[in-house]
Amino acid sequence: MKVPLLDLAAQNAVLKEPLTQAFQRVLESNQFILGPEVAAFEADILPWTGAKHSLGVSSGTDALMVALSALGIGPGCEVICPAFTFFATASCVARLGARPVFADICPVCFNLTPKEVARRLTRQTRAVIPVHLFGQAADMDGIQEVIQQYSNEAETKIHIVEDAAQAIGAKYKGRPVGSFGAFGTFSFFPSKNLGGFGEGGLVTTNDTDLYETAHMLRSHGSKVRYRHEKLGGNYRMDAIQAALLRVKLGYLDRYNAGRSRNADFYLSELKSISGCIQAEESWCECATESIWVSKTGDARLILPVEYAHNKSIWNQFTIRVIGEGKRDALKNFLAEREIGSEIYYPEPLYNQPCLQEPEDAEQGFPHAMRLSGECLSLPIYPELETDQLEWVVKAIKDFFNQL
Ligand SMILES: Cc1ncc(COP(=O)(O)O)c(C=O)c1O
Repeated sequence: MKVPLLDLAAQNAVLKEPLTQAFQRVLESNQFILGPEVAAFEADILPWTGAKHSLGVSSGTDALMVALSALGIGPGCEVICPAFTFFATASCVARLGARPVFADICPVCFNLTPKEVARRLTRQTRAVIPVHLFGQAADMDGIQEVIQQYSNEAETKIHIVEDAAQAIGAKYKGRPVGSFGAFGTFSFFPSKNLGGFGEGGLVTTNDTDLYETAHMLRSHGSKVRYRHEKLGGNYRMDAIQAALLRVKLGYLDRYNAGRSRNADFYLSELKSISGCIQAEESWCECATESIWVSKTGDARLILPVEYAHNKSIWNQFTIRVIGEGKRDALKNFLAEREIGSEIYYPEPLYNQPCLQEPEDAEQGFPHAMRLSGECLSLPIYPELETDQLEWVVKAIKDFFNQL
């Protein structure tokens, strides 16, 4: 039985009619960039972001470019980013001439930890980018607290930009992600929970001045035509993208609930594998490398955790396969049974050739380094059928039984 990592046809086919109508509407309007469709999308999506303002942009990467540019990030600035995330989180910082400063991640939730942020703050730090990786919120209270404390002592202003590309609709303590920082940024890349029909992204903020700056930056830094106040870019969203996304937005809660149901299925079924444990929230507090090793003991498989105070949207269901070469062996084993899986991410960002390697690369990021060798994301999309989920579980059980 085939179980692809993602099946967009299954999701989009049932929406053929409303999607076609939306397409037709834009075709007839002859307004293809921004305009009423984008404005309506920006208004419709606000409840999922909890923010006061939102701006439709051309991608999640461009959302980061707009947010960081609006905050004046540039040469001489340092921006703290997780060492374990998608490239764009840090590349946008570097593209603006600033320095991405990498911080290690929590081995339990895979996100930035306040302790690691505190360790990397300097007088040059102008922003911190917590990424809500795989759909689960980072520790926003903890991160805000260490930033606040440092800012007060050093008398500097440090902004938070939440990279919520993978987390539309996720909540931290009941509040949607994207509403905590100076800015939140989202992606509608087709594999995201709200997957578009091409590229698309969103910038959110509660600050009206920042919104106006971001608004300008989206269109070449210009408020009045051919007068450019700032060095912006063409970061505009297409009307067709907005119109189609508006259709899918009506199903987002259902998509998120479907993924959550699938995650529950995996969590309950995979637990019976010998040597399988689920990561526990309580390990987070003191997640040093030695404590992580002592807690996980001789586990062979570690399942992801959902923190009690978070509502994850399960953009990915990422397991950890312990032991040299075991993760890749499982990936190949699944592929032989026509089951898709993916490694997000095989290389921590401090190892990327185009990003400056930090001095402590060898010792400074034990969790990011370990995770990049152990992580494997399984199919979790909402349209998965029960027999497909059972097929995945059986394959994983067979793999561990034959080890
Ligand atoms: C964490 C994170 N940040 C930023 C991006 C960039 O988004 P986009 O692909 O829409 O440019 C992604 C996309 O995968 C992402 O996962």
